[in-house]
This record gives sequence, C-alpha cells and structure tokens, in this order.
Amino acid sequence: MTTIINIGELLGIVPEGVERKQGAEMSELGVLTDAWLRIADNGTILSFGPMSECPLDPGVPTADTVIDAEGGLLMPAFCDSHTHIVYAGSREGEFLDKINGLSYEQIAARGGGILNSSDLLHRTSEDELYAQALSRVNEMMAKGSAAIEIKSGYGLNPEDELKMLRVIHRIKQNVPALIRSTFLGAHAVGRGYTRQSYVQEVIDMMPQAAEYADFVDVFCDEGFFSPADTDRILEQGARYGLRPKIHANELAVSGGVQVGVKHSALSVDHLERTGDEEIEALKGSATMPTMLPGSSFFLGIPFARAKEFISAGLGVALASDYNPGSSPMGDMRFVMALGCIKMRLTPTQALNAVTLNGAYAMGANKETGSITVGKRADLILSEPGWTLTRIPYTFQTPFIRSVFIDGVRQ
Ligand code: NIG
Ligand code: FE
Repeated sequence: MTTIINIGELLGIVPEGVERKQGAEMSELGVLTDAWLRIADNGTILSFGPMSECPLDPGVPTADTVIDAEGGLLMPAFCDSHTHIVYAGSREGEFLDKINGLSYEQIAARGGGILNSSDLLHRTSEDELYAQALSRVNEMMAKGSAAIEIKSGYGLNPEDELKMLRVIHRIKQNVPALIRSTFLGAHAVGRGYTRQSYVQEVIDMMPQAAEYADFVDVFCDEGFFSPADTDRILEQGARYGLRPKIHANELAVSGGVQVGVKHSALSVDHLERTGDEEIEALKGSATMPTMLPGSSFFLGIPFARAKEFISAGLGVALASDYNPGSSPMGDMRFVMALGCIKMRLTPTQALNAVTLNGAYAMGANKETGSITVGKRADLILSEPGWTLTRIPYTFQTPFIRSVFIDGVRQ
C-alpha cells in the first residue's frame, strides 16, 4: 500500500455513482484540506480522510510506502477524451502556409491537411507509427494525463485504417494509462474515392474496425461528411456495438450535434460554431458537449460558448484534440488555462471539465476521473504551495511533482 500524507488540498472528491457534472454542479468541487489518501496494492483508491484521523501513527514503523505531500495539492489526473495521436511525422510545411495566410479549409482544399497525413501514414511502417505515437503518450502522461482516447482517421482505406487501429490496440496493451479507441474512418474522403463510395467503404469496414474500436466517429462538417452520411455510418456502428463520438460544428453549423444526439452519442466535439438550437438539442441527453480550445487557439477560430452551455444546465468537457493539423499539443494543463482565459470558465469548472466530464466523454467515468474509493488511483501531486487557481493562471510554471497512473508513481 501507498499512503500519501500532508496533502494541502485533496481536490475532486466525488461520491460513488456520480457520472458527470452539469450546470451548477460544474462549480462544485469536493475538497478536503489537510488530508491523507491510501492507494491499495491493486492500484485503486482505498480510502482518504483528514490528517486528524490519519491511520499512520507518527514515528511508528509501517509497511506502507509513505509519501509526504508537504502541503501540495492532490487531484485526479487528466482525462483527455479526444486525440489523434497516431500520426506520422508532422505538418510543419502547412504551419508555414498557415502563417502566410491560408486557412485550415484552404489547406485541405489543396489536398493537404488530413490527406497529407494520410499519405505520410501510408508510407510509414506500423512499428515506426507505434514508436511515434508511444512517445506522444509518454509526453502526455508526464504532463498528467492518465486516460486518453485515440482515434484512427489518417488511414482512409481499409488497410491503413486497420493499421492505425492495431497501433492503438498495441498502445492500450503496453501503457499504464487507460486507453479508449475510436474508429474515425470518416475523417476525410480517402484518395481515389467519391464521397458516396467512401461512405460505403467506411460502412463496409465497420465489422473489422469493431474488433479493435470502442467507439465510432465522423467528421460531420462542411466540406467533409453530411448529417445524412453520418446517420448511415452511425447506424452501422450501432449494429456492431460502437457508440458514437462526433466531430461537429467546427467549420460550420453542420447539423452534427443533432445527428449525434439522435444516436445517443457519448460526446459531440468541437462546437466552435453552435447556435441555441444545438444547446436545446443537447438538453436532457446523455451526450457530453466536448470543447477543444487548443484548436480554436491554433486555427484562430472562435472558442466554443462553454459558459452558455453551462448556464443552460449542460455539462462541458475539455480535451486536447492532439493532432498535427489543428492542435499539435496534448497538454491538458494548457487546455485548462485556455478554458479559463479564453472561455471564462472558473478553475473549478475547468478542472471538472478535464477530469470527471472528460472521463464520461470517453466512457471511463466508472474507472477514473475523480477521487472516489474504488476508482483507479490516477492522480497528480503538485509541488508544495500550489493552489488550484495558480495552475491555469501561471500556466507555464511547472507544478507537477508526481503523476500516479493506476496507483503507480511514474
Ligand atoms: O479535430 N477536425 C477534424 N479533425 C481534426 C484535425 C485533423 C487534422 O487536421 O489532422 C480536429 O481538429
Ligand atoms: Fe479531432
């Protein structure tokens, strides 16, 4: 067993059974000051409480590994519910095009963007792809992410989509972080297909994809796939037990939110362009609105209207969208900072959005995302002297002392 003592503030305590936070609950954060927490040998949270009731007697020897937090914060590790980290190389050339004035849509229309990554991935061996993706996972874990969703979507033909899904599967088996896999065959129309023939190809890929994937995703947006295409793909996904997570409303008011809700999507993601109809459609649904401020920042497009969603009683999750084209970073602390600085979330709302609600958006809230007895001990221990507000405020000053994943100090 491991016991962490002298925790200045234990943040993110949630009673068992609470699945997500919505509306006013987004502003609630279970906090215990001057606390201890015990990790069981199986890696789960065994118990916690105030130091006045600490199970360890000072000076009495114990078999536990004891970690003195020296007043630091202990909080749930980040749950990054939307990433595309299996990709080959980079798109540095397009970064320069962007600096010189081209938009994301213009770069894509020239055959760059997602298709550029698809060509690169086709030329890269499966082992090399795995090595590159693994180094990104290691970087993310060091920055405090203990649960990561990873999408396919740079294959864009059956052979290369399956290559990506196998790489994600290998990551799942080899890293301590909790990994969920999403089949995003419909990320762009693959080379050599028409849109309709490619939609049919994605539908035909579903049985094989479902052997590896937990979820199905579609880029339902202007210039990519329509709500009708999405509808067909999600219906096929449902036949193979894949719940949707949708890319919607990044480039235009696309109808993606509505089609996602219709199919009980676990999440609808991006949402930079949403009207009141989208908020109405989400009310009362099981779908988590997920916002990706890293791509708003990088592409210079609007930030999603998180506060209005919360005022309407909805929950919000934040994720990194780590990918080579619209958000080349997987730093969830920076995502929190963008949530606070650009979307005017409070630090408490932002923390809920990157922990419990992120876990919900990737179907992992029973296992992780909060300080709850029985969940995995996926934790961030800060350096002494930190407060929650300082994490997004001084957003570049290192604050992590240790990351625990599945109970193990990394
Ligand atoms: O979530 N919007 C679609 N897909 C990614 C970008 C992928 C890429 O440009 O490589 C996103 O932003
Ligand atoms: Fe994405």
